Amino acid sequence: MSTFKTVAKNIDSLLSEKKLIVNNRLRKLLEEQTQIKADLRKAISYTLEAPGKRIRAALVFLCCELICGKINHNAEISASAIEMVHTYSLVHDDLPAMDDDDLRRGRDTCHKVFDEATAILTGDALLTLAFEVLAKHVKPPALAVKLIKELSQAAGPSGLIAGQMADLKAENTDAGKELIEYIHTNKTAKMFGCACASGAVCALANEKQYQLLCEYGLKIGLGFQIADDILDVSSTSQQLGKTAGKDITAAKATYPSVFGLDKSRQIAKTLADEAIEILKPFGKDGENLKKLALALAERTS
Ligand code: IPE
Ligand code: IPE
Ligand code: MG
Ligand code: MG
Ligand code: MG
Repeated sequence: MSTFKTVAKNIDSLLSEKKLIVNNRLRKLLEEQTQIKADLRKAISYTLEAPGKRIRAALVFLCCELICGKINHNAEISASAIEMVHTYSLVHDDLPAMDDDDLRRGRDTCHKVFDEATAILTGDALLTLAFEVLAKHVKPPALAVKLIKELSQAAGPSGLIAGQMADLKAENTDAGKELIEYIHTNKTAKMFGCACASGAVCALANEKQYQLLCEYGLKIGLGFQIADDILDVSSTSQQLGKTAGKDITAAKATYPSVFGLDKSRQIAKTLADEAIEILKPFGKDGENLKKLALALAERTS
């Protein structure tokens, strides 16, 4: 089933093409890790090869293409590293101590199939491996350092971890506009900003281009998490491949809980419009990112 409505056809084929590239690269990167013992490898493969949408990888590629016309080797490594970190964040997010979820990407969660300790270690392994592959495979080393800086900042204690911490602390509280924007910006939007920034870095973008793509990523990333909150209350577990209705049960602070559904949809649409506005200086070259912004605002899974 398509994730998108009106702009479906075009964006679906664009994303499938990108998904294939990152999935192939991820498989190769895992294969070269010959020293991983069988039980850990099984849990890592199970998790990393599950059917994720690979939106963050697509953003690296689309931003790289926008600047230099094609996807290069560094962009493939960067996209893979970002998907590894994202996947780790989901494994840990699903743990009993966090969101306590049973279903992810249409499958039982890592800690259900294996056990909690294995899921914790699988997450740790993916997080660490992401930085290993950047250090090892991105050339020249100065560019690797730039990508490592982007990813560590987005995923670290002033990014994703800050957002996850605030998300958990906000359960059963009366969160307001400022807090919910803080949570969503940190736990999700910064990784989107990082994906766009990394695509720009791999394409050797100039400072202005880099800044614009970072801003675009933050806007659509915030919109993406708002859509996630909306879908949690308006879609089904089958459609999402993860348990629907969890946010209300866990008394999470979400956009719908703070603003209501209609207003949340409106905010997501406004963010997509603002993201598209940011792309203006790129002219026609920004067309694919524009389509993606629109598609993500109205996604159904
Ligand atoms: C899920 O991200 C977590 C959020 C930030 C909302 P995705 O919806 O991109 O998950 P996958 O990678 O497709 O499974
Ligand atoms: C998680 O947000 C964002 C992460 C950084 C992992 P959610 O907890 O809403 O994501 P889902 O709904 O479980 O995918
Ligand atoms: Mg969560
Ligand atoms: Mg969750
Ligand atoms: Mg959610």
